[in-house]
Amino acid sequence: MRARAWLAGAAARLAAAGVEPEEGRLEGLILLEDLAGVGRARLPLDPPLPPEARAALDAALRRREGREPLSHILGAWEFWGLRFEVSRETLTPRADTELLVEEALRWLRARPALAAPWVVDVCAGTGCVGLSLLSELGAGARASLIELSPGALAVAGRNAARLRAEGAVRGRVDVWAGDLLAPLRAAAPPGAPPPDLVVSNPPYIRPADLAGLAPEVRDHEPRLALDGDLGAPPGDGLAVVRRLVAEARALLAPGGGLLLEVGWDQTEAVGELLGAEGFEGVWRRRDYGGNWRVVGGVMGEK
Ligand SMILES: C[S@@+](CC[C@H](N)C(=O)[O-])C[C@H]1O[C@@H](n2cnc3c(N)ncnc32)[C@H](O)[C@@H]1O
Repeated sequence: MRARAWLAGAAARLAAAGVEPEEGRLEGLILLEDLAGVGRARLPLDPPLPPEARAALDAALRRREGREPLSHILGAWEFWGLRFEVSRETLTPRADTELLVEEALRWLRARPALAAPWVVDVCAGTGCVGLSLLSELGAGARASLIELSPGALAVAGRNAARLRAEGAVRGRVDVWAGDLLAPLRAAAPPGAPPPDLVVSNPPYIRPADLAGLAPEVRDHEPRLALDGDLGAPPGDGLAVVRRLVAEARALLAPGGGLLLEVGWDQTEAVGELLGAEGFEGVWRRRDYGGNWRVVGGVMGEK
């Protein structure tokens, strides 16, 4: 079989399995490139597929028809132009979250005194937010990645080590196991300076909304990465965020920043929460689809 015939068949099978047709064709292209080495440039030549490549493509297609995320099938996903290992224990990095990276960079660059900033990425997952930030900052920068899931933390550690070895990330990276900001509090020597910026894409989905998520997310991504009220009574999905804002208030010095990604209908509530916890200049940012997705504030005098 030749590449174009395989692609047409794959797109049809994915559409029949409920994947958006445009998405299915794009995913077929990604599979052809990753598993058979047939990228967009070679596709017009319509090369024949060797039997091993064909077998790998068909096996991947069967998993995708079962609505397993493409990222799990490939074991990796791109974010901020970097390749991140992913697993069943990590959230797959979302393009939406690049907005959080953009906003964090804007905040840091508006403060030239922070030539060698220390950024904490809490709820780090693959480490995509902290490591992408570090890829844009100088060698003096530091990123601390904190994660509760041991499996996700191991993936973050491997992503950090590989991106440093490839030279994509120059600054210092440390990874911490634990609940929100507790590991840093426990490890900080008395009088040590606090981080300059805490960034987070925490779990924030309302428990009542989990059942309505796409099967790729609902059935394959970790509940710990999604459910914003895990361990608390089900409510507005902001239980983790509330704890995080209170902990950031205790950790940050005046002038330190806190920047969060939350749901499109949650930034207003989180902005109020930040104000109530002593953060000043609270601001929000919309994504390119016009939805409010990022909210931040600067710690005021305590
Ligand atoms: C929405 S995912 C974000 C992952 C990654 N930052 C990203 O943007 O792709 C939230 C992550 O927070 C982790 N997590 C959940 N509760 C946590 C807690 N209390 N302390 C630290 N990490 C937590 C989950 O395991 C998950 O990896």
